Amino acid sequence: MPTFHYNEYQSADRGYLVGVGLRQERALLSIEDSLRELTLLAGTAGIKVVGQASQLVRQVNPKTLIGTGKLDEIIEQLALLDANILIFDDELSPRHQREIEKQLGESVRLLDRSALILDIFAQHARTSEGALQVELAQYEYRLPRLTRQWTHLARQAGGGGARGGSGGVGLRGPGETQLEVDRREITRKITKLKKDLEQVRAHRKLHRERRRRSGLPLVALVGYTNAGKSTLINALSGSDIFAADQLFATLDPTTRRVPLPDGNEMLLSDTVGFIQKLPTTLIAAFRATLEEVIEADLLLHVVDISHQNAGQHIEAVEDTLAEIDASDMPRLLVLNKVDRLGGPLPQVGLVDNYAGIVPISAQEQTGLGDLLLSIAGALAQQKTLLDVVIPYQSGQIYSELYDKRYIEAEATREDGWALTLRLPITDSDHYREFVVDETSPAGNSAD
Ligand code: GTP
Repeated sequence: MPTFHYNEYQSADRGYLVGVGLRQERALLSIEDSLRELTLLAGTAGIKVVGQASQLVRQVNPKTLIGTGKLDEIIEQLALLDANILIFDDELSPRHQREIEKQLGESVRLLDRSALILDIFAQHARTSEGALQVELAQYEYRLPRLTRQWTHLARQAGGGGARGGSGGVGLRGPGETQLEVDRREITRKITKLKKDLEQVRAHRKLHRERRRRSGLPLVALVGYTNAGKSTLINALSGSDIFAADQLFATLDPTTRRVPLPDGNEMLLSDTVGFIQKLPTTLIAAFRATLEEVIEADLLLHVVDISHQNAGQHIEAVEDTLAEIDASDMPRLLVLNKVDRLGGPLPQVGLVDNYAGIVPISAQEQTGLGDLLLSIAGALAQQKTLLDVVIPYQSGQIYSELYDKRYIEAEATREDGWALTLRLPITDSDHYREFVVDETSPAGNSAD
């Protein structure tokens, strides 16, 4: 298992939040709404928020992001409120980080939204794959930001001087040289983590191919953090996945087998929650997990329709789907938590992207029958390719496939008809026993 080395927060930690808006720039959420979300993120990490400030600027200050007068004001507030953590809602550049840290002094820790999300992810990663991905994202985030203040982390995280990483520092004197050593150590770690993840990825690919051969359609849940994905997968599969009123409670994909009303089955897979301003290093590191999404036959986009920013959440998820090239995938929009609505269903945008919209309450287990029917309906419309070999003595199966017009390409070989079938995904399970092993020559024998 990789070493965890996230910032640990204590109940005594008191956070102060800063939101920055650029005039003339349309943000997904207003500064206030985004700060409200940051308050939840801080709470999830274990930080008590004791105050906040915001500033609308014409252009960002290249040194301190916000105006220097505003920063002075905030530093005064930190002392008054006895706050020991300052959290910016936007990603700080390495230069911002350095300059603001200089003014804050030793007693206040500086974070930005990305660092906070990375810490939450590190706290919640349960499998070694999740941990590897977070660790990689953390190092990539930290590398350009290494300052003297960070060097202790680099040493901790680098697996210690056990491998000699920190040795020999004395030769070139303290300070900068230590920084160089730490940078090298982190770069080495990044290379190693990427290699490890490559292996995980290869393993996953094998797993996916096996699933393909098993013929069951894969349905992946996506959604804004806290939308209710884990609650839904539990309700549909009767299982017991950790669901909590916390952001990013689920990090590692979980897959369950779920029966459909038409007699078929699906594999239902949970994925990491999305959020606006999700750090790009994190999206890159979680590509392996997110590939699960791209490989799915259908996406269920779960949205907390009772949330005042439901429309923006949908947009943020759509943006992330676009980033992982999943914009064209068939999907259903699942409007969750309808039990919390006082009145009629609110109107939401972007509905044209969806094959259907289904209101449910995962918690109260209402609307789930309709949801399963919609899933079965959407899957029935989808086709998949299957390479099979039908033995000559099973002529009736061959005729059946012929009558159903499933045969796309055909060749003969010693042990039977080698066929490439194009068929509804929900019917593919019936022919799974004839699927050829990809390593066998039959895989290539169809025209
Ligand atoms: P992440 O792990 O952050 O991605 O969250 P998630 O989408 O898996 O959400 P989760 O299932 O953990 O639910 C988040 C919170 O919403 C929990 O407190 C659930 O009990 C609550 N919740 C989920 N579905 C419903 C619902 O239909 N109605 C109500 N009232 N609450 C719900």
